[in-house]
Amino acid sequence: MSDQNRRILVTSALPYANGPIHIGHLVEYIQTDIWVRFQKLCGHHCYYVCADDAHGTPIMLRAEQDGVTPEQLIEQVWREHQADFADFLVEFDNYYSTHSPENRHYAELIYHRLDAAGHISRRVITQAFDPEKQMFLPDRFIKGECPRCGALDQYGDSCENCGATYSPTDLKNPRSVISGATPVTKESLHFFFKLADFEAMLQDWIISGPIQPQMANKLNEWFTAGLQEWDISRDAPYWGFEIPDAPGKYFYVWLDAPIGYMASFQNYCDRTGLHFDDFWAPDSTAEVYHFIGKDIAYFHILFWPAELTGAGFRKPTAVHCHGFLTVDGQKMSKSRGTFIKARTYLHHLRPEYLRYYFATKLNDGIDDLDLNFEDFLHRVNSDLVGKLVNIASRCAGFITRRFSGQLADSLAEPALYAEFATASESIAHAYEGREFGRAMREIMALADRANQYIDERKPWILAKQPDAHDEVQAVCSLGLNLFRVLIIYLKPVLPGLAAQVEQFLQIPPLRWNNLEKPLLDHKIGEFKPLMQRVDMAQITAMIDESKENYSPAREVPASSPGPLADDPVSPLITIEDFAKIDLRVARIIKAEAVAGADKLVRLELDLGGEIRQVFAGIKLAYAPEELQGRLTVMAANLTPRKMRFGVSEGMVLAAGGSSGIYLLNPDNGAEPGMRVK
Ligand code: MSP
Ligand code: ZN
Repeated sequence: MSDQNRRILVTSALPYANGPIHIGHLVEYIQTDIWVRFQKLCGHHCYYVCADDAHGTPIMLRAEQDGVTPEQLIEQVWREHQADFADFLVEFDNYYSTHSPENRHYAELIYHRLDAAGHISRRVITQAFDPEKQMFLPDRFIKGECPRCGALDQYGDSCENCGATYSPTDLKNPRSVISGATPVTKESLHFFFKLADFEAMLQDWIISGPIQPQMANKLNEWFTAGLQEWDISRDAPYWGFEIPDAPGKYFYVWLDAPIGYMASFQNYCDRTGLHFDDFWAPDSTAEVYHFIGKDIAYFHILFWPAELTGAGFRKPTAVHCHGFLTVDGQKMSKSRGTFIKARTYLHHLRPEYLRYYFATKLNDGIDDLDLNFEDFLHRVNSDLVGKLVNIASRCAGFITRRFSGQLADSLAEPALYAEFATASESIAHAYEGREFGRAMREIMALADRANQYIDERKPWILAKQPDAHDEVQAVCSLGLNLFRVLIIYLKPVLPGLAAQVEQFLQIPPLRWNNLEKPLLDHKIGEFKPLMQRVDMAQITAMIDESKENYSPAREVPASSPGPLADDPVSPLITIEDFAKIDLRVARIIKAEAVAGADKLVRLELDLGGEIRQVFAGIKLAYAPEELQGRLTVMAANLTPRKMRFGVSEGMVLAAGGSSGIYLLNPDNGAEPGMRVK
């Protein structure tokens, strides 16, 4: 194996701070985490840093829509992201934010150095401007009719109907997505990074092999198309860092986002005493790897190495790109329920199932990977439960019951153990090269071999033969030793399972080189079931929950709250229609008047852990203080609607008529979050 003194810094792309982590994101974080855990398991000094990407127009607007400050929004999302990652056993050494003093420092430093070296130019450009909102509009915030096919409601950069690409000024009947106003054009001074200054450097760089061949081809296409200057400034109002000595001008989010890798690492260094320069100085001998999705390659293999070089830092050792996740062969979709949030998955399934499944599918290429639920169920049940865990459950009982947990003091078949240990080189090689699928196949072939050994020796039959007492111990001890080797190999993928096994075997945390020495003459603990089979019903329930939880991120504002619309003529509905409404018991933990609305109260409702904000038109009937602490019933899966005062994320149920308004209460004993049916 490679030298023990490797110092390795690893990053995953920084997720945007305006939405939840979903299973598509997890391809990347799980891939990176497996690689990092493998390095650490081998004893290398490996550091895994990440952060939320907390700047930019969508975050600014999302906060505005939610009636919170951007700081509040990014703080909240940062907490949620960290909890999601932790629960998926993605273990960062530091999880930070691009909205941090360290990031401002490095963004300014890099900008100043690039500017001083003549790599920044300034010129006036003309852009679409929202006269009502008084802000420049990114292409995605302008909609209108496609200039080619006439399709309605198309974005300012391309048509989803005919695929045409154009500039927002070509749209017919354009309007601002934010205010609905017709955009005008307006001039403004912008700052540009002169990417073309670095063409020769980039050409040399790719020869040294830091990117996959498919990405090198992409890069060559971009060279052929010509390297344009990159616009790194945005005008106020913008949520980001103001450019030094340029009031009203901000760094474009993609300028400070990759710098966030450095900022997170600096923050980690300050906490731990590691030296930033050892990793980032031009002559650094440490390794730096970025794991990213192929959609953001342009930023990481063109702009980023160029910026780093221009500002006097080292370039990454390699940028590892992966493909996109599809579910059952299609893009993730909210209507099909395949846009599955990390949190929703966790409500139904163990994270390690997905970690293992992704591992079987991952390689060093950039092809998309598919999550097929039948295949997922089959892989987990047959490999992890049927093959792997089965080895331990077939052997453990005999050792605990007949030998008080004592393992034999020698190996029954040293050659078989050696066969398992020898595989370490090839498996390590596969991990190192991100060929996780190959590693999993090799490991499962060994698991088959271990089961075959147990089948041949049949400890359950030996156990009935009085003269085979020692043999039972020998066979089961070898079985458990083979199992232990497999757990070492799988520990980067299944760290939780490995921890359970360490406890069962009563051993310190396993390291890669522990496989050199078998576990002999050692007392193990009691065997408890290590992993459950997946049931299709769990998957179906997860998909159903994903259908309900429509993400509020892209909702179009609704016009009126209408909390208690009287509608005497109700059409008949089916039980299926009724079941679509997710009615829940909720506790009103906060109730307050809404300034400027005489009928509305703002409620904070606890749904058994999740807190929702709802604006209810019940102020004429209830003083806010009366409501605080009460239980009620809410419709929890209504599309969130934006109101003048904030977003309403559901509706409380109340009876209403000419005599007044009466909030519904569940009977005594009901608890927040309970489903009402
Ligand atoms: N904020 C930027 C990255 C800045 S890095 C300096 C961003 N954020 S993101 O939240 O949209 O995506 C984060 C990562 O998740 C990206 O690498 C992206 O490619 C990856 N994925 C997002 N959806 C994905 C799938 N459906 N499948 C696989 N990876 C996916 O981009
Ligand atoms: Zn079109």
